[in-house]
Amino acid sequence: MSGEQKKTPLRSAAWFGTQDKNGFMYRSWMKNQGIPDHEFQGKPIIGICNTWSELTPCNAHFRKLAEHVKRGILEAGGFPVEFPVFSNGESNLRPTAMLTRNLASMDVEESIRGNPMDAVVLLVGCDKTTPALLMGAASVDLPTIVVTGGPMLNGKLNGKDIGSGTAVWQLHEQAKAGAITMHEFLSAEAGHSRSAGTCNTMGTASTMACMAEALGTSLPHNAAIPAVDARRYVLAHMSGIRIVEMVHEDLRISRILKRENFENAIRVNAAIGGSTNAVIHLKAIAGRVGVPLELEDWTRIGKGTPTVVDLLPSGRYLMEEFYYAGGLPAVIRRLGEGGLIPNRDALTVNGKSLWENCFDAPIYNDEVVRQLDNPLIADGGICILRGNLAPRGAVLKPSAASPHLMRHRGRAVVFEDFDHYKARILDPDLDVDENCVLLMKNCGPKGYPGMAEVGNMGLPPKLLAKGITDMVRISDARMSGTAYGTVVLHVAPEAMAGGPLGIVQDGDMIQLDCHAGLLNVELSDEQIRARLADRAGKAAPVQHGGYQRLYLDHVMQADEGCDFDFLVGCRGSAVPKHSH
Ligand code: FES
Repeated sequence: MSGEQKKTPLRSAAWFGTQDKNGFMYRSWMKNQGIPDHEFQGKPIIGICNTWSELTPCNAHFRKLAEHVKRGILEAGGFPVEFPVFSNGESNLRPTAMLTRNLASMDVEESIRGNPMDAVVLLVGCDKTTPALLMGAASVDLPTIVVTGGPMLNGKLNGKDIGSGTAVWQLHEQAKAGAITMHEFLSAEAGHSRSAGTCNTMGTASTMACMAEALGTSLPHNAAIPAVDARRYVLAHMSGIRIVEMVHEDLRISRILKRENFENAIRVNAAIGGSTNAVIHLKAIAGRVGVPLELEDWTRIGKGTPTVVDLLPSGRYLMEEFYYAGGLPAVIRRLGEGGLIPNRDALTVNGKSLWENCFDAPIYNDEVVRQLDNPLIADGGICILRGNLAPRGAVLKPSAASPHLMRHRGRAVVFEDFDHYKARILDPDLDVDENCVLLMKNCGPKGYPGMAEVGNMGLPPKLLAKGITDMVRISDARMSGTAYGTVVLHVAPEAMAGGPLGIVQDGDMIQLDCHAGLLNVELSDEQIRARLADRAGKAAPVQHGGYQRLYLDHVMQADEGCDFDFLVGCRGSAVPKHSH
C-alpha cells in the first residue's frame, strides 16, 4: 500500500481520537474489556458483524470463524470489534426467515453506522443472512468483506450421498407414496446434517455464497470451502488481513457493487444452477446502492448460459465435490474462456478484477464443473414469465423443471392459501390428474406474510402412487433452493396485493410457455376485470402489531426485491452526533 493511501482518515477517530470529555467516555468504557491505550491510536477499527446463533445451526460455528478473522485483523495492524446482529436461521425461524430479512438488514445498517468502525467483515451463512448483511452494509458504504461459514459435509444415507433439503423432499414424497416407511424416513435425519455448515446442495445459502463471490464482495473460493475444512479458517484469516488493507485503500462496497458486478453474478447464477431466491435478493442488494436491475436482466444476461455445475437439486453432486473440483473460480474460468463473463474487469475486494482472480484457476473434475460443450443444462438461468396471470412477472428455474412441462396447458386446481392446500391435497376425491396445474394464492410477501418457501407444493398422494413425479405448480410464494420441479414462483403482483392470481378459479385453463416467457389464464380482459372488481376489498392481510405491522405496511413486491420502500438506497457512513 502506498504512503498516500495510508493517509485515509479513520472514521473511528471521531470516537476514540479526541482528547476531551467525549474521547474519555468512548475510550474509558471500552477499556473495561482490558483494551490498552495504544489500540485506540490510529489503528483501523474493524467490525465483525456476526450472525452466530445456536438457533441458526448453519451459523453455529461462527464464534470460531470470528476468532480467525480477528487473527488476520490483528496481524495487519487493525483492531477487531465483534458484534451480534439478528440471525435469520432458515430451519427454525417461523413463519419464515424471509419475514425478518429486512429487519436484520436494519439491525446491520444501524449497528455499523452508529458504532466506531472503519470497515466491516460480514459473517454470513444461512440463506437470509447473506442478503440481509449485504443490504445493511451497502446502505452504509464502508469497506466491507464477506466471509461465509461454508457448507456442511455430504449427507449420508445407506452408504450413499444425500443432499440437504433435497433429500427431505425426495424421501417425504417416497413416504407419502408408500415406497418407504415413516421410520425409514425419520432415520435419515442424523446422516442428513453431519457437520457444521450450511446446506450442502446448490440451495439458497450456497447460491448466495456464490453470488457474494461473483459480485466480488469476498475473496476467491469463499463460497465453496466446507465449513469444517481448515482452509475455511485460513480464508477467514486472510479476509481479516485484507479488510485492514481495504481501509487504507478506501475500497468501499459501493466501488464493488457496480452494475457490471451484478451482471456477472446473474451469469454465474445460470452457470451454477442457482436458486430462484437470488432474483429477489440481488434486486434488494442492488436497490441499496442505486444499481438498476430488472427481471428482464435475468433473461437478457442469463438466457442461453449453460449450467455447468452438476450439483443437486439440478444435478448429482454436492458442495464438497464442488470445492474439490475447483469451486467458483473454476466456473468463472470456464465461463470466461467461452466469452461468457460479461464484465471481466469488474473489481473485487482483493483489488483485482474477477477475471484476474480466476483466469488460471485449476479445474480438477470435469464431471462436477462440466465443460461448456457438455453442460448439465444447455440453457440454464432463470426463466422470467409474464402474462395476464403475472403482469409484473414470475420466475421458474428450468434446470430444476421437467422439460416436457415447460410448455403446458392445463386445468387449474386452486388453493386459496397454504392451509387450504394442506387440507385439500390429501382428499382422495380431489378432482385432479397429472395434466392439471396446482395453483396456490396468498403466499406472497403480504399474503403469508413473509413469502414462505411453500411454492413447491407436494403432489397429490394418489398421483404419487401412480408414479407421477412432477406437475406444473404456480403461486406467489418462493421455493427453497434445495427444491425442484416445474414450479412457477414469485407471481407479481401477489394475490393479496390485488394480483390476477387471486381471481383464478377451479377449472380455469392455464397456459405456461417457458420458451416464450408467457404465463396466462384463458380469460378475457373483461372477465379478469369483472372478477377483480368482485374480489376487491374481500382479501386483506391479517393485521398484526409490532414488526409485522411495519412489514405489511412497507414490503414491496417480489419484482422489487421485497425490500421495504423506505430502506431502498444508501444513507452513507457519516458519523452520527454525540449523545453526551
Ligand atoms: Fe441454513 Fe439451509 S437451512 S443453509
